[in-house]
Amino acid sequence: MCMSVEERRRRRKGKGFHSSSLVRDEYHPNRSCRTKVADFLSWSSSDSDKASNCVSILKGKVALITGAASGIGLATAKLFHCHGAKVVIADIQDELGRQACREMSSDGSDDAMYFHCDVTIEQDVAGAIDGTVAKFGKLDIMYNNAGIIGPSCPSVPDIEKSMFERVLSVNVVGGFLGAKHAARVMIPARQGSIIFTASVASVKAGRSRHAYCTSKHAVAGLCKSMAVDLGEFGIRVNCVSPYAVLTPLFTGGNSVDESQFYTETNKHVFLKGMNLKPEDVAEAALYFASDDSKYISGHNLVIDGGFTIGSHLKPLNG
Ligand SMILES: NC(=O)c1ccc[n+]([C@@H]2O[C@H](COP(=O)([O-])OP(=O)(O)OC[C@H]3O[C@@H](n4cnc5c(N)ncnc54)[C@H](O)[C@@H]3O)[C@@H](O)[C@H]2O)c1
Repeated sequence: MCMSVEERRRRRKGKGFHSSSLVRDEYHPNRSCRTKVADFLSWSSSDSDKASNCVSILKGKVALITGAASGIGLATAKLFHCHGAKVVIADIQDELGRQACREMSSDGSDDAMYFHCDVTIEQDVAGAIDGTVAKFGKLDIMYNNAGIIGPSCPSVPDIEKSMFERVLSVNVVGGFLGAKHAARVMIPARQGSIIFTASVASVKAGRSRHAYCTSKHAVAGLCKSMAVDLGEFGIRVNCVSPYAVLTPLFTGGNSVDESQFYTETNKHVFLKGMNLKPEDVAEAALYFASDDSKYISGHNLVIDGGFTIGSHLKPLNG
């Protein structure tokens, strides 16, 4: 007969059992942490109280996140920080990035830092990584998240070569440079977790975003390819692939009605009754960043409510 989780936990405690699975059980308060994270992300009052409610699965780790001044990267920076990581934000939106760091350090801690870093410029990327190591002594987690979508262009003959190259430069070359320089400092340490943000566009094409789709397929390939060579140094490489998230990238900076956005985007997914938020992607990145995923490498985790698993096409015979 199967024992309930509660019963298993009770028995283990009774036996003074100290396996890693018990440790996992102990961080069940993380459930409450997750509720608290939602509050925490709003940076309202008593942030330090909320932070102290977080179970620190990244305690002692140092994370650099590109594109973390906004959207998915920002949500991830806050979540990683909430889980005890020292966090470096690398972006080109200096004011937003610095503001996020100030908020994370508002309890007087000195564990968040901003770097101006254009991921297409190798010197910037190398500088952000060296600066991270200089400040915090190491780099455990490199999250290559910065990205652009590029303009929609339904007419293939009209696609500008320069636009195509720009999207590939930020999304692919930027991610490559992040992984390259992270590997430079992680290899001697013989450990590390490199994460990319790809997209459902890494497995499925949409309309009129040829450069974006190409770039995200390439990111998924880069992830696998790097996982092969970096594995021998104990470095894991994975990517998260979200479906549509309401961020400036998706809206193009235009104001968008939130409920209309979810009505429209949820039409195409099989999982019903919930909306995909930046924090949901952050939770997936947290998994890859933490030791919970210690045997997982080369994986592309779609966060898509089933968007990529099938088609909504119905047979004509009903
Ligand atoms: N929003 C979505 O629907 C969605 C879905 C799937 C994947 N993604 C991916 O998620 C990642 C984050 O996007 P987001 O949705 O949070 O958008 P966002 O616009 O909120 O964030 C992107 C961040 O990247 C930064 N950035 C852009 N170019 C950069 C450069 N050259 N150097 C450094 N930073 C740069 C921006 O300043 C911004 O802070 C991207 O890689 C995107 O492709 C987004």
